[in-house]
Amino acid sequence: KSLVIAIDGPSGSGKSSVARETAHRLGLAYQDTGAMYRALALVCLENGVEVHNQAAVEALAKRFYFEQWFDPGVGMVAAGLDQERALDVTDEIREPRVSEAVSAVATNLGARTELIRRQRAAIESVRSRMVVEGRDITTVVAPQAEVRLLLTASEAARLARRGAQLAASGESQTAEQVAAQVLARDAKDATVVEFQRAADGVVTIDSSDLDFEQTVQAVLRLVRE
Ligand code: CDP
Repeated sequence: KSLVIAIDGPSGSGKSSVARETAHRLGLAYQDTGAMYRALALVCLENGVEVHNQAAVEALAKRFYFEQWFDPGVGMVAAGLDQERALDVTDEIREPRVSEAVSAVATNLGARTELIRRQRAAIESVRSRMVVEGRDITTVVAPQAEVRLLLTASEAARLARRGAQLAASGESQTAEQVAAQVLARDAKDATVVEFQRAADGVVTIDSSDLDFEQTVQAVLRLVRE
């Protein structure tokens, strides 16, 4: 029986780690749709495609290779111009240069249409037993999901989490740089997707004062209901 758990939320809300853990505990597949946008942005950067060139980015969205899998606890991503040239880009897609470029790609409506098509196909390929995470999953990609939730957190909590993540991966960005980048990206993204407010029928979980395990428990409780 189908069980799609759709999780949306802004940057630093903890949705990726919580979504992955929820999938792991429930034995469901997992899809990080942000990774697909990030991979497309990276393939643009690596192949001289200007991220603001609408037609070129849309064309690349239709042909680039993208694959995502789940290595107990870690989401892995391979991408490239085509399958032969695809590389493991798990770490590269998190680099600040990709975070800076990704909104240009995500606000390209032609590219979005194509990525949404691929995301829906990925859900079907596991007979709709999947945790899917992103910005427009509850509203556009899988509005029919059995469980739909918006994971939010205060701006302070989000910036602190994102800063800690970047520091752990060895990026030397100041708190001001992290804040400026995250807020600029949220503002750009908000021009094409509404992810700061819950749509009708979507449950909000505010994780500002919850730790990781408490947040996972809140999601699991919702699934059991
Ligand atoms: O790093 P963070 O968790 O904020 O973002 P992400 O989930 O890795 O997504 C990266 C970017 O992809 C976002 O800033 C959006 O521009 C875009 N995105 C989107 O437009 N729609 C989605 N469903 C997921 C991501």
